[in-house]
Amino acid sequence: MLHVPENVIVKEVGPRDGLQNEPANVDTADKVAWIDKLSEAGFSYIEISSFVHPKWIPQLSDAKEVAAAIKRHPGITYAALVPNRKGLERAIETDIDEASIFMSSSETHNKKNINKSLEETYPVLKEVVEGAKSAGKSVRGYVSTVFGCPYEGEVPIDQILRVCDRLFEMGIDELSLGDTIGVADPKQVDETLTEIKKRFSFDRIAMHFHNTRGMALANVLVSLEHGVTTFDGSVGGLGGCPYAKGASGNLATDDLIHMLHQMGIGTGIQLEKLTEAARFIQEKINKPLPSHQMQMLNRS
Ligand code: HMG
Ligand code: MG
Repeated sequence: MLHVPENVIVKEVGPRDGLQNEPANVDTADKVAWIDKLSEAGFSYIEISSFVHPKWIPQLSDAKEVAAAIKRHPGITYAALVPNRKGLERAIETDIDEASIFMSSSETHNKKNINKSLEETYPVLKEVVEGAKSAGKSVRGYVSTVFGCPYEGEVPIDQILRVCDRLFEMGIDELSLGDTIGVADPKQVDETLTEIKKRFSFDRIAMHFHNTRGMALANVLVSLEHGVTTFDGSVGGLGGCPYAKGASGNLATDDLIHMLHQMGIGTGIQLEKLTEAARFIQEKINKPLPSHQMQMLNRS
């Protein structure tokens, strides 16, 4: 018999994780209209953009304009990635609610992604956490390559736990564990969460799966059985990581919502409105989105 939670929080990261890897240039006004549609779908959390260096991720160089133009709904947390003090200064000029800091559990991916060793990263992120907190923002932490690094392979669990410890010590409110290149399998998720659970409360843990090998929903199921209640997804499965070769789209929010609702798990999200948002961005990027829900709709 399955033991799963009654309700789950699904966090939409498509406007950031989806678009950052999208070659098509989406107009600022279209991003804004898309995020407004996502707000209408019933999410309590949307990651709207990223304040990383615009040279590294030009697709999100309009983060400030997007943050200024979206319609804010009460009860929705609007978040953005913030890599360092410079990013925080830019983010604070807008009215985002939450700053998301990020680093990898493996040295090589961290270096390629943010140009620093793990040790060099901690003080940079600590400064962001302190600055964000004193500006009244909550802070989310991401750890990437938890289930495998494209350069180093499997990352030892002790190394992962050390990075998680350091981020929680800084005062982050929630930690999202990233399967950056979509290599996790259900057994590995089970083993990793068994170790995570010994150390951290699942109230403050989210899972961030990419669906490169079609295993994201299977990994969600194992996480649900462990008692995880927060999952990240990207509408239609849009997404990837530009500094992790082979990282394709995130777990598709629409497929996730469909599965959860079929299982009787509440999310507060309306699948029809979510699908409408997926159709909208699919048209703007001018190619079919990979989620099963969208493939089904595109055929009908
Ligand atoms: P750097 O070049 O090492 O930065 O980049 P620096 O501190 O040496 O500064 C160099 C110059 O850049 C300076 O300008 C800074 O002011 C400027 P100068 O003085 O030479 O004129 N600068 C900035 N300008 C605007 N905004 C900023 C900023 N920072 C510095 N924020 C940095 C370091 C982290 C900025 C760079 O490596 C970067 O932007 N990396 C982005 C990588 C990225 O976005 N990756 C994808 C997101 S992570 C992900 O997708 C994984 C996740 O989804 C979870 C999962 O799936 O696992 C979260
Ligand atoms: Mg990601």
